[in-house]
Amino acid sequence: SLRSVVVGTGSSLPARAVTNAELTERVDTSDEWIVQRTGIRQRYLAGPEETTSVLGTRAGLAALDDAGLGPDDIDLVICATSTPDHTFPSTATQIQAALGIRQGAAFDLQAVCAGFVFAVTTADKFLATGGARRALVIGAETFSRIVDWEDRTTCVLFGDGAGAVVLEARDAETAQGRGVLSASLRSDGRHREKLYVDGGPGSTGTTGHLRMEGREVFRFAVGSVTDVIVEALERAGASASDLDWFVPHQANRRIIEASADKIGIAREKIVLTVDRHGNTSAASIPLALDVARRDGRIREGDLVMIEAIGGGFSWGAALIRW
Ligand code: ACO
Repeated sequence: SLRSVVVGTGSSLPARAVTNAELTERVDTSDEWIVQRTGIRQRYLAGPEETTSVLGTRAGLAALDDAGLGPDDIDLVICATSTPDHTFPSTATQIQAALGIRQGAAFDLQAVCAGFVFAVTTADKFLATGGARRALVIGAETFSRIVDWEDRTTCVLFGDGAGAVVLEARDAETAQGRGVLSASLRSDGRHREKLYVDGGPGSTGTTGHLRMEGREVFRFAVGSVTDVIVEALERAGASASDLDWFVPHQANRRIIEASADKIGIAREKIVLTVDRHGNTSAASIPLALDVARRDGRIREGDLVMIEAIGGGFSWGAALIRW
């Protein structure tokens, strides 16, 4: 049997970091309100040239370098995004071309903030069944382009960026216990109105803006999302105390800590980047993974749980032996 082993990570942020204090020049808010409610202190905002595919390409290249691999080594590119450069072609094919990858398949996957967990789970199925040898899995977003900069209840929450991992199919013996061990994905489309974009080709014909009932999302995130974590642990025969690192979607510090408390994950095992990155939707987990790996926290052999919830709602968790 085959295992999908993480062999490299990379990330990319726009050049410009914007503090909460700087945002107060644009919207009626305060550093104190934002920090207290969300834990966010700054976010990176993309300039005109820093599109989703540009950020995704940089993150992908960094992940390939980290893995010591080149474009000929990759035969699957999946990009999780809700903010593509264009309606089509996919951001993944643009990244594939920019990286010089000529073989295999490339496609986008859209599960909003849960996109990276869905994409890793999807890539794992390809690798585990011999459908591909090495996958570049990217989360890339420029939510600053879809937030309503007149709506202070949402625009202060989001940032731009991209992160990537390279997954490699290895025989169970050579994998030595490493790889994607289990996953649990869920969606419930009845929650559409709580988090959506009010545009698109089939509605207004314009891109539209993000709309969110923040309190409802908060309640669902804390109340219901832990089911996928529990299921992913069960499927791997593991328990919360076995985890070395918990790398959740970075939307809000309070949601993250409440979820960890509920599952019984110690606070010191949480990788927290929301203070620096804001909510970068599908990019937040691979960005956090890259930070924690490069600063020496995540090491080979560590048991890592990734988890996210986003619009739809869609939510999921995956357990990875690093
Ligand atoms: N600055 C200052 N005041 C603000 C701001 C702001 N940016 N935004 C809202 N307020 C005010 C409101 O107007 C309200 O004032 P009022 O009481 O006079 O009416 C007050 O602050 C409280 O507003 P609430 O919406 O009740 O604030 P709450 O404590 O629920 O926090 C927040 C709002 C941060 C959005 C919270 O609900 C939340 O984090 N929800 C989760 C949503 C989330 O993280 N979504 C991310 C995308 S989805 C995902 O990634 C899972």
